[in-house]
Amino acid sequence: MAADTNASIPITRPHLPPVERFTEVVAEIFQSRMLSNFAKYSRLLEERAATILDHPSPYSVSSCDIGLTLAWQALECPPGEVIVPSFTFCSTVNALRWNGLVPVFADVDPKTYCIDPEHVRRLISPRTVGIAAVHVFGLPAPIGALETLAHEHGLRLVLDAAHGLGGRYQGKALGGFGDASVFSLSGTKLVTGGEGGLATFRDPADAERFTFLRVYGFKGDYNCRHIGLNGKLSELNAALAWLSLDLLETALERRHAQVERYRRALAECPDISWQAIPAGCVHGFKDLALRFRKPDQRLAAETELAAAGIMTKRYFFPAHHMEAYKPFVRGRLPVTDELRERLLCIPLYHDLADETLDTIASVIRQSLTAGRDTVRFTRTSVDHAAA
Ligand SMILES: Cc1ncc(COP(=O)(O)O)c(C=O)c1O
Repeated sequence: MAADTNASIPITRPHLPPVERFTEVVAEIFQSRMLSNFAKYSRLLEERAATILDHPSPYSVSSCDIGLTLAWQALECPPGEVIVPSFTFCSTVNALRWNGLVPVFADVDPKTYCIDPEHVRRLISPRTVGIAAVHVFGLPAPIGALETLAHEHGLRLVLDAAHGLGGRYQGKALGGFGDASVFSLSGTKLVTGGEGGLATFRDPADAERFTFLRVYGFKGDYNCRHIGLNGKLSELNAALAWLSLDLLETALERRHAQVERYRRALAECPDISWQAIPAGCVHGFKDLALRFRKPDQRLAAETELAAAGIMTKRYFFPAHHMEAYKPFVRGRLPVTDELRERLLCIPLYHDLADETLDTIASVIRQSLTAGRDTVRFTRTSVDHAAA
């Protein structure tokens, strides 16, 4: 893996509103002395998010991780198995275990990297109670096929929408699908509050339970109706996220243009392929992953980029290879294993300069040319391009 600590070009950078705007809001919060407990800025964030997520009532939460855990709790699933991609971040699966549910790993589609509905269908058994899917790197999961399966088999469907802000499915933002969707507002996302999340529910009764669960399990009276957690979003995080929501459209536009620029710059590299975007989907491009034909090509690119001070990520580290999830491995997941050896995420963020992007693409092109006698890009050349 590339050495992040020395990288002069990070893989991502938070897109922030003008500091003066945030300072004004912080001054107001100090004045009010309301630092948490869903005061003005949590409410403003939820109101604004309703329009952006195409859902009438999103709920703020301290992180997507806690939001997913509490969402499964709110759905009151009976004990059983949940079909989940291994190709995801650990939170998608950890949320199941915190609820005593058993993960059954499904493979992903080789073109979109999202969960493969045909494999899901084959894994459904009398023990199955739910499906967890992920909008991988910001690309909507195959929502239509998953909703059909969930409906046919009476299963709960939870969408890990950590990467989902800005993505669209059949013309709609991603807040209105499945039984629940949970978004992340952490620092690596298109919109950030520093930390934070937003959760949406199809059924108002599930949503109501969630509003108790995110506050320890009670509301105001110290009498837990459910066994909850502290999932409250602080007013400072909520205010930053609220201000940052204004940046979403610009961030999306910029990322789409940057992805196009990378694609043009790497168009002559037949050994690199790209995540496919099915008709009816808009990609949010939280991440951009290159897929190399051979693992040693990825290693060469990763090594050359690291030498030039450019950060990359092998992402995701599939759950079925994690120590904690080895006991749950049943069958093989050939596509996930192939992606594990071939994908490399490269820098993508709003103020990544075009010249730097071009340099990154050149390093990748050079790394693919045969032999070790290629020109090595030095840290100095990258720093110069970034200036
Ligand atoms: C797919 C996925 N799910 C969940 C999370 C957890 O989000 P958070 O950091 O807001 O808890 C992440 C984090 O990046 C993620 O990538």
